[in-house]
Amino acid sequence: MAKIIAGVGCSHVPAIGAALDLGKTEEPYWKRVFSGFERSKQWIAQLKPDVAIVVFNDHATAFSVDIIPTFALGCADEYAPADEGWGARPVPVVPGHAELASHIAQSVILDEFDLTIVNKMEVDHGLTVPLSLMFGKVDKWPCPVIPLAVNVVMFPPPTGRRCHLLGRAIRKAVESYPEDLRVVIFGTGGLSHQISGPRAGLINSEWDRNFLDNLTKDPIALTGIPHVDYMREAGAEGIEMVMWLIMRGALDDDVEETYRFYTVPASNTAVGHIILEPRRSA
Ligand code: DHB
Ligand code: FE
Repeated sequence: MAKIIAGVGCSHVPAIGAALDLGKTEEPYWKRVFSGFERSKQWIAQLKPDVAIVVFNDHATAFSVDIIPTFALGCADEYAPADEGWGARPVPVVPGHAELASHIAQSVILDEFDLTIVNKMEVDHGLTVPLSLMFGKVDKWPCPVIPLAVNVVMFPPPTGRRCHLLGRAIRKAVESYPEDLRVVIFGTGGLSHQISGPRAGLINSEWDRNFLDNLTKDPIALTGIPHVDYMREAGAEGIEMVMWLIMRGALDDDVEETYRFYTVPASNTAVGHIILEPRRSA
C-alpha cells in the first residue's frame, strides 16, 4: 500500500530560480534564503521518497487565461519546464508517475471532486522553484512528480475548506494504491505577497506565522478563512496559501512540525517553509 509519509510547505518566487540558475546563491541576499533549505535538502535526500505530489499553481503559463481549471492533475509521463518569457529554466524535465496519478484521478473523481485530467503540461516556476529549493541543482530529479495545479490566479479560487477536503481524498486515493510507495506531498506558493497595485510589496509576517502555527495546531480553523481575508491581510497573491491546505489535508490529523524556516523578503514575497511529519510517539 502506498503511504503519504510527510508534507512540505514551500513558497515560490521566479527570482529564486534565477538566483540558483545564475550562480548567485552565495550572494548575501540569496544565501539568507537558500540557507533555510540546507537541512531540508539533507532530510529529503535521506528520506528518498518514491514519489512527490506537488500542489502548485500555474501562472497563466500552461493554461493561459483562456481555460482555467480549478484543480488539474498531471497524469503524463513527463513535464517540460516552461518558457515564462526569459527562456525555460535550465532544469531537467520533470518525470511523472502516470500510473499513480491516474489512480488518484479515478479515486478522487469517484469521490466527487471534479478534477481536470492533464496529459500534457509545461510547468512554470510554481513547480520548478520548490523542486529546486528541496532537491538543489541536479542533472536529474530524484523521484517522479505528480503535479496538481490549483487555480489561484483568477477569481474564484477554491475555498480553503475545499482544498483541505481534496487533500483528504488524495490521501485516501494514495492509501488504496497497491504498491508500497512512500509519497511526500508539497503544498507550495505564498506566503503573504502582493505584486502589483497600490499595496505592492505588502508582507504580513504576523499573519504568515499564525498560518504556519495553525497548520499543525488547528488546520480546521484555517479552512474557514474567506478569500477576502487572505486578500486583505496577506495581499492579492497571498491567496496562493490555500494550496498548503491540500497538503495539510493529505496528512495525519496529528502531525509534528519538524522544521520551519521563514524569511522576508525574496523578491516581493515572504518565504515560508515547513516540514510536517506524523507525530512520533514519546
Ligand atoms: C513573485 C511571487 C510570485 O508568487 C510569483 O508567482 C511571481 C513573482 C515575486 O515575489 O516576485
Ligand atoms: Fe506565484
